Amino acid sequence: MAKRKRERWGSQLGVILAVTGSAVGLGNFLRFPGQAAKYGGGAFLIPYLVAFLIVGLPMAWAEWALGRYGGACGHNSSPGIFRVLLGRKGSYAGILGTLMPLMILTYYMFVEAWCLAYAWDYLTGVFARLGTDLGAIENHFMSFVGAGENGSLFKTAVGARTLFFFGLCFLANMVLIYRGISRGIERFCNWAMPLLVLCAVVVLVRVLTLPANPLHPEQTVINGLGYLWNPVKPGETLWSVLSRPEVWLAATGQIFFSLSVGFGLILTYASYLRPEDDVALSGLTACAGNEFCEVVLGGMIAIPAAFVFLGPAVVQDPPGTFGMGFVTLPNVFNHMPLGSMFGFLFFFLLFLAAITSSLSMMQPSIALLEEGLNIGRKASVLILTSILMLGGLFVTYFSKGFTALDTLDFWMANFFIFIFATFQSIVFAWGLGIRRGMEELERGAHIRLPRILPFVLKYVSPVYLLAVFALWAWRNLPERWNAIIHPPADGPPVVLLSVLFILGVGAFFVWVVSRANRIWDKEEIS
Ligand code: ALA
Repeated sequence: MAKRKRERWGSQLGVILAVTGSAVGLGNFLRFPGQAAKYGGGAFLIPYLVAFLIVGLPMAWAEWALGRYGGACGHNSSPGIFRVLLGRKGSYAGILGTLMPLMILTYYMFVEAWCLAYAWDYLTGVFARLGTDLGAIENHFMSFVGAGENGSLFKTAVGARTLFFFGLCFLANMVLIYRGISRGIERFCNWAMPLLVLCAVVVLVRVLTLPANPLHPEQTVINGLGYLWNPVKPGETLWSVLSRPEVWLAATGQIFFSLSVGFGLILTYASYLRPEDDVALSGLTACAGNEFCEVVLGGMIAIPAAFVFLGPAVVQDPPGTFGMGFVTLPNVFNHMPLGSMFGFLFFFLLFLAAITSSLSMMQPSIALLEEGLNIGRKASVLILTSILMLGGLFVTYFSKGFTALDTLDFWMANFFIFIFATFQSIVFAWGLGIRRGMEELERGAHIRLPRILPFVLKYVSPVYLLAVFALWAWRNLPERWNAIIHPPADGPPVVLLSVLFILGVGAFFVWVVSRANRIWDKEEIS
């Protein structure tokens, strides 16, 4: 049997930057400000902070510890790691930690391509020509992403351009993943992360120094920041915001998506650590880095800038993530002096944030294919490329109204993320056992962990997660289920096809894990 070479991170800083890179993504700069503005502004930070402290950070620590533990036992994929912890049957539960990131990747890379294309268009003056006409910018976006008609990207010149940028992102991701953990992901993140922060700081300084809108003198940056971050808005009380369950659901979902917790990504990344490497301080640093990028950089760019140029309406009723990122913000940059330069910097930093995240979503599949089928890097990248091309074609073809993208996002980045996170928290506290779990976390630790952590990990996180999940499922599942079983009469059943696509790839991974188990059985006997 071919013995694969064990890969390792080159340095502790390298792994911290890679995990932070995985966490810092489109969620930080586009999703967070929109969610904060929609769910109470400053008041939103209370459930957000609670979710960070009782599930986000503890679960990130648990994933780091479980991953390093699995790596020490010779496994990098979540099915392999769960087999060590729970036995043969447990390995099948680990499939979610591979399937989820891969499915999210199919549409995440599409959006990554929009960011790259927008950066290019700012550089080449395309946006300067569109000016401040909101309708023109919206039309540009709609035709660029094919939102009006299924298959339109394959018929028009604009669509061909979109597909070209998609292909470019695809290629960049594949080349980097092919180069491996230390020569590909780590080296790239080592320069991409500082560059991303630098670009964000430049854009932030520009936003914070914007003069008041001469036509509406009350539209200042300070008022924009206040509008977003004041704990209580006119006509509301803290209680009226905090008593709404959806605010808690949104805050918890944002924490998961943003920290890349519950995806299985940290699990795989941490498995490439050495058994004595620190996970406690590294986990904390990566989470803190993500929060800095999210709350400080992400939270102070989009909404205050939009407030100055477009007024309070944008903050009162923020457009969705895509509307905010690809229609509202370009319009804002087009109002600014030197807007092309700042627009370029913003979309380039979004592209860097997205690619460092998308790389992390590929590695779990690569690890499983290599471990499960006992194949090398070339073959695993080839299989991954085929699945992703299929997914990419699916998402780019069924582009109308973002139905395919939205369906994949709902089931993967909302539904299964909760299930897998809850499962992982139970495995850490009850499968591995909280005493052993804490020993794992504390081995090689460069900091002292809070004394309350075992209690939080054993009781608070699982109970909170189960409660939030039950509430979320009760509110969302019936409608989503209806969309699957009642396809529209006047078009293809895109929702159903998306679910079938997920099930198809899931079935493939079940097959891979069943083969892997045979290999692992033999390895255990010999
Ligand atoms: N954590 C990544 C993001 O925020 C997935 O986009």
